[in-house]
Amino acid sequence: MKFTNMDVENFYRVLAPRPTIIVTTISPDGKINAAPFSFTMPVSSNPPLIAVSSSPNHHTYQNIEQTNEMVINIPSEDILPELWITSEKFPQGVNEIEKSGLTQMPSQKVAPPWIGECIAHMECRVERILECGDHNLVLGEVLKVAAREDAIKEGLLNVEKAKPILHLGGKDFVVGDHHRILKD
Ligand SMILES: Cc1cc2nc3c(=O)[nH]c(=O)nc-3n(C[C@H](O)[C@H](O)[C@H](O)COP(=O)(O)O)c2cc1C
Repeated sequence: MKFTNMDVENFYRVLAPRPTIIVTTISPDGKINAAPFSFTMPVSSNPPLIAVSSSPNHHTYQNIEQTNEMVINIPSEDILPELWITSEKFPQGVNEIEKSGLTQMPSQKVAPPWIGECIAHMECRVERILECGDHNLVLGEVLKVAAREDAIKEGLLNVEKAKPILHLGGKDFVVGDHHRILKD
């Protein structure tokens, strides 16, 4: 079997498909922002910590640095076109939830809203930020998590219903609806 060498800065393209989230934040003067991210992973379950890696140029990062809050929304295939709109580079202060026609819902523990069409969301308080190369790693403590009832089956994500979006790179995605169970 032959192997192809790839550009090292694109290493993450073989660590794929990656779960894709929409992060909602708010600026100190109350302007709501939303953008998709696929550099994300769970870090600890007790305390519940999640990591998101963002370019420091993003409005998302700038809001997080100033307000220490974010909501992680889990989108489904149904809103892939809307997710793409939230990734566009709008001027600071433009609300991508409104631009994409999605619905903002009031959070309980933090100021940024959650997105009504997403299958689950986590309200997070930022607990630490680490500078990492051309990105900054944001560690958030999950204060509250809720999922749409039909998106959960026996405590697991019901992928056939939830159709989570997985990112390959650029405009290429995989929709995770193939559930395989290993036999003993
Ligand atoms: C599917 C997808 C995943 C992305 N993942 C990341 C990521 O993990 N980190 C990042 O810094 N930017 C990522 N981006 C790019 C940002 O979403 C994009 O630059 C956006 O305009 C930033 O918006 P903001 O300035 O309003 O925060 C991703 C874009 C897409 C479409």
